[in-house]
Amino acid sequence: MADTPVKLGVIGIGVGAAEMLPPMEAAEYIDLFAGADINPDVRQRFGERYTEARLFESAEALVKDPDVEAVWISTPNMYHAPMTILAAEHGKHVVVEKPMALNMKQAEEMVEACNRNGVHLIAGHTQSFGAHVRLMRQIVNSGRIGKLGAINAIAYTDWMIRPRTWEELDPEQGGGMVYRQTPHQIDTIRSIGGGKIRNVRGMAGQWMDTRPIPGYYSAFMEFESGVPAVAIHNGYGYFLGSELVPWGDANTRYTPAERNELKRQMREGTRPETEEKLSLRIGGEGERLIFRGEMREVKPWKPNDLGIVIVSCERGEIRQSPRGIFLYEDSGVKELVLDGRPQARDAELKELYNAVRLNKPVFHSGEWGMGTLEVGLAITESTKTHKQIELTHQVEMAAGYDETYPVEVIEERVVDDTMVIV
Ligand SMILES: NC(=O)c1ccc[n+]([C@@H]2O[C@H](COP(=O)([O-])OP(=O)(O)OC[C@H]3O[C@@H](n4cnc5c(N)ncnc54)[C@H](O)[C@@H]3O)[C@@H](O)[C@H]2O)c1
Repeated sequence: MADTPVKLGVIGIGVGAAEMLPPMEAAEYIDLFAGADINPDVRQRFGERYTEARLFESAEALVKDPDVEAVWISTPNMYHAPMTILAAEHGKHVVVEKPMALNMKQAEEMVEACNRNGVHLIAGHTQSFGAHVRLMRQIVNSGRIGKLGAINAIAYTDWMIRPRTWEELDPEQGGGMVYRQTPHQIDTIRSIGGGKIRNVRGMAGQWMDTRPIPGYYSAFMEFESGVPAVAIHNGYGYFLGSELVPWGDANTRYTPAERNELKRQMREGTRPETEEKLSLRIGGEGERLIFRGEMREVKPWKPNDLGIVIVSCERGEIRQSPRGIFLYEDSGVKELVLDGRPQARDAELKELYNAVRLNKPVFHSGEWGMGTLEVGLAITESTKTHKQIELTHQVEMAAGYDETYPVEVIEERVVDDTMVIV
């Protein structure tokens, strides 16, 4: 039984799911057993690719299948809470995409429903599961470079230029940068800093006429320990964080010229956004190029949606490197090389399998996820009130996380003074 793959049903087979499908296919401990989507094109393409999988027209139909053990909820944000509760009521374990809910009341109801039905709930805040984030946390906890002093995460991306649906452009339905992107950075910051943030002062920014949602936020946080943290994400796609590293460039999904062209089309109302979005979902050309093609190959890390994370300690500093992390310490600069890609998505799947099959604790639990959601909501609240927001739902990362999910460093190499990285 322990090595039987978990029978997983994907609810909402959109762009987020398209990113998850390759690791789901690759994980021998996951059986991609079923899929549900209201979009007939998406259903057809899912059926064509996964001929063995069961196909449903709604979440309601999928959760009624007694053979499905767990669901991956990657529908638009406003469905995360109701679908989690629905799945729990049908005895399914749940991984819910970020943000876990639109508000704290919904999140509480999700946790309550999963507890009442004896199923696991995993808050799938993807990027914080990455091996380089875990390694940063493990170095901090090891005391190798002394006590934690500060954490900063800074991202400049093209997030606002990517194709969006109507719900993604409606802040009431969970649209915008704060709902969608704080989970990556805040979960990472909480994970490295232990978990409990005391308060937040934040500002969201919205300054692109064609996008009626915040495309920027910055937040200053103080941990209960007194450690400060800063999170910044600008998704307007002029300057990219990737330009800041010597091995990076200004191209992501789009070249700078393509981004300017997309902005022009949005201003003129001529952008075929629905088609572009569909292209990124299962079976589309965008999916093939971005999620299944060469972009899936193991390549040097570049600043992405999580951004550049810099952890400062008493006797050193840590940041991401092309193949792992740079560790600056009194004896010199080292690159701690990891085995392959950061494997954030694989780690999410592993946490599900370990909980369902091996009875291991869920670390990115509903309660943990609520702590991250609370910070995002506080940034929005702070934007309106111009005040610092005190937090009340913060929890520590449960003991045993580092031991349960160790990180394999395949090489620790000294980096020379010139820091020329190839
Ligand atoms: N973890 C990550 O890195 C990551 C990446 C991208 C997206 N996401 C998350 O995935 C979610 C979806 O975003 P997206 O970009 O994939 O959007 P999307 O619009 O491409 O995907 C949503 C899918 O859900 C389907 N859907 C809508 N309503 C439904 C319903 N009632 N029942 C069943 N299916 C329904 C749509 O047809 C679509 O295929 C968001 O919550 C987003 O935050 C996460």
